Amino acid sequence: MTTPHKAAMAEVIDLEIAAPVSSAPPKHVQQRFHVKSFGCQMNVYDSERMGDVLTAQGMAATDSPDDADVVVLNTCHIRERASEKLYSDIGRLRQPRRDGSRPTIVAAGCVAQAEGAEIAARAPAVDVIVGPLAYHRLPQLLQEARGGRVIDIDMPAVPKFDALPARRIAQASAFLTVQEGCDKFCTFCVVPYTRGPETSRPAADLIAEAAALVARGVREITLLGQNVNAYAGGLSLSGLIRELAQIDGLARIRYTTSHPRDMEGAGGDDLIAAHAEVAKLMPYLHLPVQSGSSRILKAMNRAHTRDSYLATLARLRASRTDIALSGDFIVGFPGETEADFQQTLSIVHEVGYAAAYSFKYSVRPGTPAATMADQVPETVKDERLARLQAAINEASLAFNHTTIGRRCTVLLERPGRKPGQLIGKTPWLQSAVVSLPGAVIGDLVEVEIVSAMPNSVEAVPCATTQSPV
Ligand code: 5AD
Ligand code: SF4
Repeated sequence: MTTPHKAAMAEVIDLEIAAPVSSAPPKHVQQRFHVKSFGCQMNVYDSERMGDVLTAQGMAATDSPDDADVVVLNTCHIRERASEKLYSDIGRLRQPRRDGSRPTIVAAGCVAQAEGAEIAARAPAVDVIVGPLAYHRLPQLLQEARGGRVIDIDMPAVPKFDALPARRIAQASAFLTVQEGCDKFCTFCVVPYTRGPETSRPAADLIAEAAALVARGVREITLLGQNVNAYAGGLSLSGLIRELAQIDGLARIRYTTSHPRDMEGAGGDDLIAAHAEVAKLMPYLHLPVQSGSSRILKAMNRAHTRDSYLATLARLRASRTDIALSGDFIVGFPGETEADFQQTLSIVHEVGYAAAYSFKYSVRPGTPAATMADQVPETVKDERLARLQAAINEASLAFNHTTIGRRCTVLLERPGRKPGQLIGKTPWLQSAVVSLPGAVIGDLVEVEIVSAMPNSVEAVPCATTQSPV
């Protein structure tokens, strides 16, 4: 089984989208929907937007699939197990309920895109199959499904974002998809096939969407893209960040996921400089390396080497000394020897990651690596993953220790386990547990970090507690 690193849970999310706070239905509305997201942060964003589309049709969100008229399963195709989860959920949903009803089942996302025909054959209970580039057509597809199953896995020329209704989100921290798709073709990855080529949304649309989010109370925006630092929507990513930083009331800007190749050389200069110059840009960068071995990186078609990656990190650290780094790793890529794997372990120690996500290589049919010689046995992958995760845990704990004594802001996001406790994020994306009577979710509070665990820190309020920006 592919086990994401414990601290990686923000990346591989099995999240059930709850009703947006403000989406209480008008009294006459009966239809309810539930959206379950299996994938990355882009999937979570897509799930929210599908919720917006259905809400705009007069439907109401429900937290439970059991009382939903429509259940959307927003799938992820990046590793094998995700598609298995889809089928087990369909199996559950197709069972008639006590009153004999069953929901309309929508298979959405990247598995739907890549395996639409297979889903149709294997799971006749599915009513709508819709890919990640076509979900703005969901209302129409649901209508059509009354006459039998419909499949929409086109990659439409008209960008879906233009067809989506206004966002309804009401949280302190929000995602904003700025770029989709990938032209990089790493040999292990399905994304270029499921999400299509790199496309960027126009900067003006994004600035307007961000301003609307801030008007709804959002304090932090995370710009999303499969290759977010390849953003080219009239502005570069750093240009967009500089514009967004002008929005009053927006306190924090983040971006993910970046490709090392787009950060190398002169092309990365302005984004790296933005880390020094834009105070609202948080000192955190997710820059997946995948392997510490340049030989394996070449076989992965990553277009960067161990040394060029380390050189980029050195430039970043020169620009913003306290920047926290995270990455993705794959163990057991075809041909990976123990010596290659040792290089992965050594890069973890050398970089001192604040967090990292680690995965066993998972064969994805249709990708070049699937047919490469020297596939690594599962037992070897398991054992390497365990050693890598131990190294990552050690690095995260060491990073968290370095932050003890630092004063910083925490954006409070959810209640903690104990009464009076709230949990939020530090600038370095650590989960911080804060006890602060009177504080509420959405507050940005000033704290001092006092202790460190592998996956979180504890913080106490500073003398002045409220810090608006
Ligand atoms: N097997 C294992 N992990 C993968 N990833 C992408 N494709 C695969 C695969 N076939 C991982 C990479 C990527 C992250 C989102 O998922 O590390 O950065
Ligand atoms: Fe997949 Fe590589 Fe593109 Fe990332 S850069 S989405 S790993 S092909």
